[in-house]
Amino acid sequence: MKLTRREILRGAGAALALGSAGCSIFGGEGGGKDLIPRQETPFNAEPRLDHLVESWQTPYSKFYVRNHGTMPSIDGAGYKLTVEGLVTRATSFTLEDLSRLPKASVPATLQCAGNRRSEHQQVKPVAGVLWDAGAISTAEWKGVRLADLLEFVGTKSAAKYVWFEGLDSVTLKDRQTLFGGQVPIEKAQRPECIVALEMNGRPLPREHGFPARTVVPGYIGARSVKWLGRIVVSDKKSDNNFVARDYKLFPPEAAAETVKPQDFEPIYENLLNSAIGNPRAGQTLKAGRIKVRGFAIPPGTAGVALAGVEVSPDGGATWVPAKLLGKDAPFTWKLWEAEVDVAAGSRTLVVRATDTKGGVQPERAPWNFKGYLWNGWHRVPITVA
Ligand code: MTE
Repeated sequence: MKLTRREILRGAGAALALGSAGCSIFGGEGGGKDLIPRQETPFNAEPRLDHLVESWQTPYSKFYVRNHGTMPSIDGAGYKLTVEGLVTRATSFTLEDLSRLPKASVPATLQCAGNRRSEHQQVKPVAGVLWDAGAISTAEWKGVRLADLLEFVGTKSAAKYVWFEGLDSVTLKDRQTLFGGQVPIEKAQRPECIVALEMNGRPLPREHGFPARTVVPGYIGARSVKWLGRIVVSDKKSDNNFVARDYKLFPPEAAAETVKPQDFEPIYENLLNSAIGNPRAGQTLKAGRIKVRGFAIPPGTAGVALAGVEVSPDGGATWVPAKLLGKDAPFTWKLWEAEVDVAAGSRTLVVRATDTKGGVQPERAPWNFKGYLWNGWHRVPITVA
């Protein structure tokens, strides 16, 4: 939908009932988080995989949390989002301004680029939070289209990138900085990209970016910047640490001490991926027919969807097609279920996915010292009694 400046200024669209400042500070649904902590400070946690694959839309309590710094508590009443840079009319939007603008609802799966990092670690040591396969979750997001905000401020023709800056302070080895992200302007102008104010029908909980965050479906979670304070339109790449140095895919031979991050592009799109959530690794099951359940995510390229998921009961010797479950929505996961026969002994369940462009999930992913983008076949060892 195209929005004229007049419509924006008239405050077209229903206002959100955001309530008093800080209404979501202690979580969106009243209850707490039911997650496995991977790091206390900053707080990083993921759900148990069997819990994660219970529902297509991840409830607040099971939605993973990935932070680089201390989570700020933002007062909605004093909040401002500034949009500036290569624009004809730099603007600061209050939360009320944003809440009066027309909204789009976008279902999207967020996945951390470091999801499944523990599998990199099994190859060689890596830096970063050692996630199992649970740094991924799906929500229905609602907010203002980035394209509408960009149209409102008027981007200049030289614009190439859109930078996002969070309000959280992050401690690096040598300094304090703000968390930041970046997307090419063509992606920012696509209809799926929003500045979200709501998650699963409620104002964003504090952990997930209250009062506003970008949601960039198809891209690694790092580009969905929480506690969004500033958007900058630029003809240059951002020099924010999380664009210029981290969240880059280095080759297996690169080492932290010698790599030149400026020679590599930022990671944007997710890769085709899948994992088993139930049974869990190490479980003992009875011989015979068992149910296997998990998730699969398409690559983040527009127009490419999941084609299928296969499960192997015997370490990859034979494969059974899985049934895909859940809504059809671009850039979003599918849950899947399969029934397989398992014989007594030590067995390894395996899953792999394919996409509509002929992409096949690789048996192994290339190791990299940052531990990003592991998407090899997911293996779950079980004992069959
Ligand atoms: N935004 C800010 N401001 N600070 C952060 O630390 N982490 C990013 C992204 N946005 C981060 C952020 C990363 S790496 C991921 S994977 C997602 O948020 C996680 O979103 P969630 O915590 O809502 O699940």
